[in-house]
Amino acid sequence: MKKIIAFAGSNSSTSINMQLVKYAGSLVAYNEVEYLDLRDFDAPIYSADIEKEGIPQPIKNLVAKLAGADAYIIGTPEHNGSLTAFLKNTIDWASRVEAKFLGGKPVLLLSTSNGKRGAAGSLEDLNNKMKYFAGDVAATFSLGSFTDSFDTAQGVVTNEEEKGRLKEATLQLENKL
Ligand SMILES: Cc1cc2nc3c(=O)[nH]c(=O)nc-3n(C[C@H](O)[C@H](O)[C@H](O)COP(=O)(O)O)c2cc1C
Repeated sequence: MKKIIAFAGSNSSTSINMQLVKYAGSLVAYNEVEYLDLRDFDAPIYSADIEKEGIPQPIKNLVAKLAGADAYIIGTPEHNGSLTAFLKNTIDWASRVEAKFLGGKPVLLLSTSNGKRGAAGSLEDLNNKMKYFAGDVAATFSLGSFTDSFDTAQGVVTNEEEKGRLKEATLQLENKL
């Protein structure tokens, strides 16, 4: 059994992207999933001055943690059409520890929002950046109209067609392991 690390690029305690990540993790059939709360690896906004004093320990811990996994599920919220500053900052710091910090391993990219496009702009943004960090994108999935498509009490996607698409995406990730 291989290990998949799953997290969302949100610093919200009620992140809808983390809810989607957890549901996707529940669809993983043959491998172990460990969830990370990225808030546990918080760091100040990247600064060359801070870097001169040393890369923040939480970021070193995150990169070490990621190195111990065989694959990743990453949920990416959208702020003004692209990645959140929080996720971008975490990525920028991580890339200073190890440029290719995803190590060529398979990644499933997810996004959701209450908009019809389900944060597809952020998903596309992150997808395009994966080459810099050696993430091997196995599949992508975005869920539009979160409130109408997801039961937050049960933690499940309610739309059957979307559920099927997400199951297929998790299978594509597992097929790479
Ligand atoms: C500054 C800001 C900008 C946003 N821009 C977008 C956007 O471009 N597209 C979108 O679908 N939602 C946008 N939203 C709404 C987010 O999708 C929503 O806050 C969502 O809950 C964020 O995901 P999270 O709960 O996983 O953190 C924005 C929210 C904020 C605060």
